[in-house]
Amino acid sequence: AHRVFSGVQPTGNLHLGNYLGAVKRFVEMQGRGAETLYCVVDLHAITVPQKPAELRGAIRELTAAFLACGLDPERSIIFNQSQVPAHAELAWLFNCVARIGWLNRMTQFKEKAGKDREGASVGLYAYPVLMAADILVYKATHVPVGEDQKQHLELARDIAAKFNLDFEAPDYFPQPEPMIEGPATRVMSLRDGTKKMSKSDPSDLSRINLTDDADAIALKIRKAQTDPEPLPETVDGLAGRPGADNLVGVYAALTDRTKADVVAEWAGKPFSAFKPALADLAVQKVAPIAGRMRDLLADPGHIDAVLANGAERASAIAEPVARGAYDLAGLLRTR
Ligand code: TYM
Repeated sequence: AHRVFSGVQPTGNLHLGNYLGAVKRFVEMQGRGAETLYCVVDLHAITVPQKPAELRGAIRELTAAFLACGLDPERSIIFNQSQVPAHAELAWLFNCVARIGWLNRMTQFKEKAGKDREGASVGLYAYPVLMAADILVYKATHVPVGEDQKQHLELARDIAAKFNLDFEAPDYFPQPEPMIEGPATRVMSLRDGTKKMSKSDPSDLSRINLTDDADAIALKIRKAQTDPEPLPETVDGLAGRPGADNLVGVYAALTDRTKADVVAEWAGKPFSAFKPALADLAVQKVAPIAGRMRDLLADPGHIDAVLANGAERASAIAEPVARGAYDLAGLLRTR
């Protein structure tokens, strides 16, 4: 049976990259026969400093965003990571399975730690190990993510394989399959088509936030970087045109089509015509999310109840898996 797991960090507003590369796809995977688990990864958030009072708010906000985007607690298990201790328990075991050399190759750590690598937290270094535990504690088979998580998923596969080998349990953990699919697995900055759209870009014009109103969305698309050429005749013509390629990818993802389809429709037309159409589309798809989020956040008790219920259902799956792994490792259990 298929089991889908993915996580998002509660660190600031979700942007269009998170939505098209991840959350929109989470929604699409509901009710297709696989069990779906979606996690607010608060333990990952604290690998860099967070203000405790703000973190609590950010966890509820991301949960509201999940619901506002269409995740449904009836069809998915929606919860925050810290309420299911089995994640951290399995992560410790995995810290003893993963090799320092493997972690030294992680590019995201290098980016996030920046110049002061000695000053980064141990948690930031071990971040991908906790991520492997998130996935494997459910024996998840499919993991929808954006392109930037590819290396972390390869590490999760390596950890699963080494655990199985070390403890002579060939099939204990399955190899999780990364699902990095569709036209928007790497949405780029609207100001610079060679940089990833990110929460941490100092320019707010570089990204569309899920909380942006219609005017802000339209403005950001109008100002988005392109080049003087019209849309090409075929998708191959997008090569070497990162800004143009990015907008076509966003348009394709918002309309559930391929980039080739979009290019076929718009071939030879100027971006001065394409951008207003894209802006209308983005406003129509994204702007309602903010309204639904506001309504949901007016009732934090409801959000908390969703998370409590999700954590209970998640624990029921995760606890036996973590316990089984501890048993395999020879840790003594007397109760
Ligand atoms: P996070 O919180 O940075 O991002 C959440 C999801 O959004 C995707 N994403 C993008 N997709 C397309 N274009 C972009 N510009 C863009 N920016 C972000 C990310 O790939 C991700 O899918 N380590 C993860 C959270 C995590 C996780 C897990 C994911 C923790 N445990 C287990 C999967 C399974 C992260 O920091 O995502």
